Amino acid sequence: YRATDKGLLGGSIELVVAPHGSGSKWLANLSVGDFVDLIGPLGTAFGIPTTPANTMLIGGGYGSAPLFALAETLKNRGCRVDMVLGASTANKIYAPLEGKRSVSSLTLTTDDGSAGIHGQITESIPRLIREFNTEVIYSCGPMKMLESINRIASDFDIVHQCSVEESMACGIGVCMTCVVPVRIDNEVKMLRTCIDGPVMDGAQIIWNAENEGGNI
Ligand code: FES
Repeated sequence: YRATDKGLLGGSIELVVAPHGSGSKWLANLSVGDFVDLIGPLGTAFGIPTTPANTMLIGGGYGSAPLFALAETLKNRGCRVDMVLGASTANKIYAPLEGKRSVSSLTLTTDDGSAGIHGQITESIPRLIREFNTEVIYSCGPMKMLESINRIASDFDIVHQCSVEESMACGIGVCMTCVVPVRIDNEVKMLRTCIDGPVMDGAQIIWNAENEGGNI
């Protein structure tokens, strides 16, 4: 989502919803003028560098939705903002026109080659990091994509903040459906991504938890 101080009634919140589960289908089927109860904002937000930095924003599919507001904030702080958006096919790339004005460069990739560079988004990232001298990566999208980006960020020794995509039921820290394992100071903890995330330090997440078996 993104919140702006502009809008018909003085302020607005935009939600991008992919109608996959029953809750998102219900939301997507509402009509203009319907009222909804909202609790929010919940969880953590992307951290902003204290001094201008070269940033790369990477979005997979509809995961690009929160990155446009972030791009605006980073640009206003004097950061260079390079955005990379990828999806399986062209019509799954979410890139609103006004969002493109906040970025220094926009690279598109599609798995089927129907728009931008042909191939998976992660294949282009190392070259772009070198080209733009990236210092901080922000990402949002499917967990497999975030894991691959984290590996690249670690190879380049770059800070990686990712907004994780976990199933969430309550959103307020009660049900424990959204936990991910993290390692902090050599201690393994299960963090609730609804309140300790969704934005987390990619270097702390134990991405291959299923392979670590009894170690967690
Ligand atoms: S969604 Fe219920 S604890 Fe996170």
